Amino acid sequence: MTDKLIIFDTTLRDGEQSPGASMTRDEKLRIARQLERLRVDIIEAGFAASSNGDFECVRSIASHIRESVVCSLARANDRDISRAAEALKPAARARIHTFIATSPLHMEKKLRMTPDQVHEQARLAVRFARNLCADVEFSPEDGYRSEPDFLCRVLETAITEGATTINIPDTVGYAVPELYGQFIRQLRERIPNSDKAVWSVHCHNDLGMAVANSLAGVKLGGARQIECTINGLGERAGNCSLEEVVMAVRTRRDYFGLQVGIDTTQIVPASRMVSQTTGFVVQPNKAVVGANAFAHASGIHQDGVLKARDTYEIMRAEDVGWSANKIVLGKLSGRNAFKQRLQDLGIELESEADINNAFARFKDLADRKSEIFDEDIIALVGDESVTPDAEHYRLLALSQRSEMGERPFAKVAFAMGADEFRAEAYGNGPVDASLKAIESQVKSGAELVLYSVNAITSGSTESQGEVTVRLQHGGRVVNGVGADPDIVVASAKAYLSALNKLHSKVDRVAAQG
Ligand code: KIV
Ligand code: ZN
Repeated sequence: MTDKLIIFDTTLRDGEQSPGASMTRDEKLRIARQLERLRVDIIEAGFAASSNGDFECVRSIASHIRESVVCSLARANDRDISRAAEALKPAARARIHTFIATSPLHMEKKLRMTPDQVHEQARLAVRFARNLCADVEFSPEDGYRSEPDFLCRVLETAITEGATTINIPDTVGYAVPELYGQFIRQLRERIPNSDKAVWSVHCHNDLGMAVANSLAGVKLGGARQIECTINGLGERAGNCSLEEVVMAVRTRRDYFGLQVGIDTTQIVPASRMVSQTTGFVVQPNKAVVGANAFAHASGIHQDGVLKARDTYEIMRAEDVGWSANKIVLGKLSGRNAFKQRLQDLGIELESEADINNAFARFKDLADRKSEIFDEDIIALVGDESVTPDAEHYRLLALSQRSEMGERPFAKVAFAMGADEFRAEAYGNGPVDASLKAIESQVKSGAELVLYSVNAITSGSTESQGEVTVRLQHGGRVVNGVGADPDIVVASAKAYLSALNKLHSKVDRVAAQG
């Protein structure tokens, strides 16, 4: 058995299924490039058959990524698999990931199929996929709650038909580490051709055990692929978090005895990019990538770390990509320096016009903020990534008045399509007044379900405020993100960004629907 642990990232597919985390094609491509810099082995780029938009995302990532394998999800039917193969055509290395549910509950209630029908469909799907692609992964959805005899039958058939990877999802996050590890080991022991495939784990975090379960699947079960997402992004409580499993395997190589090919110095940049793009903020005490992960507040700890780092540190902050906030650019930096910094950050804007536009915004920001950090640049081009169609609403001007004892008041000017609107409102605070002013004209009827504000770069009130707004309307949930040194302006931008997402209706089939 090999000692290489394959890292399969599904931020752009399972992560994106998280309500409000949907991303544009440009955003996904930017994250895919960062995943490639991180050297993940496989990037699950999307679910090509779910919508034309997703098809284009998979195709665009397949066209640009050269090092990592690019994968598309497909339900176990010919149409989905053909769409996946079509979208993956430009890929240097492609994988089709096909799945069908195998638990009694899912087969009976969701698929309304008998076990024999599911078995046959899995067989035909893997056979069909193998004719289109040499690298085929098969997942029995809700595999962990499936009946073991039946699951063995399905998986043996999938391997006979040519599946090269067998993935065992704990779709609902029900597993506990020891049992999950044993479950995988027993499947591998009972299935006669199990050694012809790589075994993979895919754990959801509903009981907070996704990382522990995945590691048990590797250590006890003998799996050699982990499916995970940056920051543990994913539906409900999320998926297994990439940064945690990778650092666990690396830091405890003495125990796991496995190699991962990840460039760990790219972990924090990847985490920031995903959180800034999706608006899913990373909690400060999150392992590895949380703002406090390497901060030693207690005097005893600080003293220990100063005398000898390893008294309280098991990993080095710089090994996972934490660097002291570096001033990268300022007011006097020119277009070339700005373009170079974009390149260093792996950000490729499509045209010279896009670069000029971003540079103009950079100059505007540098006029108001003396030191510009990498995070500021990422936020700035985040604004650039919205397609003209998505930019239906744009902030033009905002002024507000707030004084102790007075009722706050805001005046906002914004574009809605080709028209300009002006609105004013009172509110409980300046943010409330600004959003009320916008809503008084837009009349979206959306419910505000989350509002959060963070400093983009920690440790200073000079930082830009980054605001996330989550809106819910007609069964859809969207996140909008806005950044500005003025948090009221950032809030209005975030609100308009969320409205843009509501405006651009995307119909897609849910992967587990
Ligand atoms: O959780 C799950 O079951 C999945 C499958 C589609 C692999 O994401
Ligand atoms: Zn999943």
